[in-house]
Amino acid sequence: MYRTHTCGELNIHDVNTIVTLSGWVQRSRDLGGMTFLDLRDRYGITQLVFNMETDPELCKKARKLGREYVVQAIGTVTERSNKNKNIPTGEIEIVVDNLTVLNPAEVPPFTIETNTDGGDELRMKFRYLDLRRDPLKKNLLLRHKLAQEVRSYLNSMNFIEIETPYLIKSTPEGARDFVVPSRMNQGQFYALPQSPQTFKQLLMISGYDRYYQLARCFRDEDLRADRQPEFTQIDCEMSFVVQDDVLNTFEGLVKYLFLKLKGLDLRDTFPRIPYDEAIRDYGTDKPDLRFEMKIKEITSLAKNQGFRIFDQAEYIGGICASSCADYSRKQLDKLTSFVTQPQIGAKGLVFVKFNEDGSVKSSVDKFFDSEALNKWKEVFQAKAGDLLLILAGDSTATLTALAELRLEMANQMGLRDNKLFVPLWVVDFPLLEWNDESGRYHAKHHPFTSPKSEDLRFLESDPSKVHADAYDLVINGVEIGGGSIRIHDKQMQQKMFRHLGFTDELAETQFGFLMNAFKYGAPPHGGIALGFDRLAALFGGSESIRDFIAFPKNNSGRDIMIESPSIISNNQLNELNLKVRQ
Ligand code: AMO
Repeated sequence: MYRTHTCGELNIHDVNTIVTLSGWVQRSRDLGGMTFLDLRDRYGITQLVFNMETDPELCKKARKLGREYVVQAIGTVTERSNKNKNIPTGEIEIVVDNLTVLNPAEVPPFTIETNTDGGDELRMKFRYLDLRRDPLKKNLLLRHKLAQEVRSYLNSMNFIEIETPYLIKSTPEGARDFVVPSRMNQGQFYALPQSPQTFKQLLMISGYDRYYQLARCFRDEDLRADRQPEFTQIDCEMSFVVQDDVLNTFEGLVKYLFLKLKGLDLRDTFPRIPYDEAIRDYGTDKPDLRFEMKIKEITSLAKNQGFRIFDQAEYIGGICASSCADYSRKQLDKLTSFVTQPQIGAKGLVFVKFNEDGSVKSSVDKFFDSEALNKWKEVFQAKAGDLLLILAGDSTATLTALAELRLEMANQMGLRDNKLFVPLWVVDFPLLEWNDESGRYHAKHHPFTSPKSEDLRFLESDPSKVHADAYDLVINGVEIGGGSIRIHDKQMQQKMFRHLGFTDELAETQFGFLMNAFKYGAPPHGGIALGFDRLAALFGGSESIRDFIAFPKNNSGRDIMIESPSIISNNQLNELNLKVRQ
């Protein structure tokens, strides 16, 4: 038997028990005639003690052990004289009688302790060592618990877990596909699923009216802190539902998860904000509602008053930062650099300070007197001591820049408290989105999303006016999930593909299977997918999902531990009848 107990469970009640422990040597200390070893496993750390006087041979053996050696120790649980209150096993130690080296270890490239650095690159290369450290271990345990609770809730609601294939068909919508060449069907390729979307709809047609899956999804897109090329969704679909049924069911899930994972009882119904309102008030469809600071438009007040930049702008608007009128020149310059950096793209930043003494000072004093500026003040409901930050330009770009500025100011003002969680639904998304590059409409969500029945009248005349029964779940400014009520009618689906620029033939080759299935009794249905990695990161208080995935990719989409992607042999290429162009 390698062990009778783990390294995290022995305490004062076990004194005098003879135990066998196995684990990794975390560190050792020689103090006078004694050697102390911290033995670590997944469960914790237990101190082993060796006495030079009573057993010099064993003590010498212990002194030779290096960090991360795997050892087995047999000994007696003894009360410690020097207790460590910080760990659960801190009141005891094991006086060792027998020590076996199960496997020696080379010196690891970084120390396996909670607050060591080692550098990102090195840690990724030795991910299996990084995973021994507490922070990542904690994250993976949280992820595990999250999965269990998700299953527990959905099972209790009659959902059944069904797996769908990974080798599917490449389709032209959405992100770029990862493709896999087929040996048995030469010249042909599978695609890895960006999501199980069509399969879950087919399952509804098959009558499995409540489906879920912790589904791995694959998307070949540019990576960010909250994006990995392979990630996991809590993917769900329901039959005979309208939008409210889906929102209520998954609001229930999210509340249940907050209770189980964070001990937080979110009683209030999540606000449901129409997309147009979210863009108007926050400049984004994923607003952070932990703080107010709504965007206000002042185009009609500020345009055509002689200030060229405003006069040429389609949109003028800004935010009011409470009690920030004391911002220094330097702070304002920094904010200007922030909004004018290429990723944000504003042309400049206008400020107005409503000073505590009642005076008004702005960067556009030449063009706007205090009477005019006080009119702006009313729009923003600003108080003495507040700072207005104004941007101008094209509507969409300016609102997007204001959304970033709003977050930056909230960061500076300490308003993004990661102990606070404010979920909301963004609803009534537009059905379609014009894409200048391709010169056609693209589906805002995906091509299977149902238009709102009251907007159908615009579908031919002005498709941009049509809203969809589509919704996103947003928490603290992160898009946690998205879904929609689906089209379940063949003609409607065909019409949709036409609007997306598909010829009937292309629609048939790409999605014929789905439209065919619609012929055989498709129930009304809808669903949602929540980003599982993002939820885990949110609960873990981090913005990076990488820390919640055991073996993630780096920002270039590489796994530097296994060195993937990599070239394949000529034999493999030949078998696939493929040639790599130099
Ligand atoms: P969508 O594309 O909105 O919807 O994805 C659902 C959720 O998945 C998460 N997510 C990601 N997480 C990590 N890395 C990524 N690259 C990534 N991309 C998306 C987000 C997102 O909200 N089939 C539809 C769902 C449906 O209609 O039911 C879908 O996939 O949290």
